[in-house]
Amino acid sequence: MQSACAHKDNLHLAIIMDGNGRWASRRGLPRTAGHHAGVAAVRRVMDAAPALGVSTVTLFAFSSDNWRRPTEEVAALMLLLQAYLRSERRRLVENEVRLSVIGRRDRLDGRLLRQIEQVEQATASMRRLHLRVALDYSSRDAILQAVARLSTEDRPSRESFGRLISQATADDALEVDLLVRTGGEKRLSDFLLWESAYAELWFTDKMWPDFGPADLQEAIAEFRGRDRRFGGLSSVAQVSPAVRAAAG
Ligand code: IPE
Ligand code: IPE
Ligand code: MG
Repeated sequence: MQSACAHKDNLHLAIIMDGNGRWASRRGLPRTAGHHAGVAAVRRVMDAAPALGVSTVTLFAFSSDNWRRPTEEVAALMLLLQAYLRSERRRLVENEVRLSVIGRRDRLDGRLLRQIEQVEQATASMRRLHLRVALDYSSRDAILQAVARLSTEDRPSRESFGRLISQATADDALEVDLLVRTGGEKRLSDFLLWESAYAELWFTDKMWPDFGPADLQEAIAEFRGRDRRFGGLSSVAQVSPAVRAAAG
């Protein structure tokens, strides 16, 4: 008997791309070299994702708490994002990838903001893969914003509150199927907390710049073997013993 996610298509994969700085430090390089190498890993993984049944990828690129880092590192990251958007635009269209950015926009540099808007516009009709880049993103802030939009007489349902979170993040609050974190840490760091209520979690010690299609394949293969019960019973347990015996 196969698990409920064995054949699930249209997967929403969320990735906490962690370990760029350590990857660089171990090589005697500045941390920013790790962020550069991380961009190459993004390209490799995005190219491999559609064939593995993934239709949406949300990448954690910069958290609202990452503003705490040294000004030079933040500036380098912002420039790198701009360069990525500039150089990637044509490739995204060719590969039919829709790019959108989730998170706060009011603290971003005007030039970066324009790049984002241009790429979002240019790729809006692309349907092969939806790449969501989380930038100046905090899940707790998104939840707080959604709470602030509730009127006192509202009795929100999970769906309606999810819609308010969508408004706060400027995109759909999609349920995450599989959440991957590289870099060895086993924490969520304020990423997609509401959306990951029933996400399968997969952690690897590999640093993000070393992560490649084979690792993604391994994560998805493991996901497909898991039994997501959503609080109910396993798909195996719900079948009567007689049917189970007949199915072999
Ligand atoms: C993740 O790598 C990228 C960002 C947070 C922008 P880090 O920069 O956190 O790398 P480590 O965790 O310090 O190695
Ligand atoms: C999470 O990584 C944010 C991103 C990957 C963009 P961090 O490196 O900022 O997380 P902590 O500080 O280790 O929790
Ligand atoms: Mg880190």
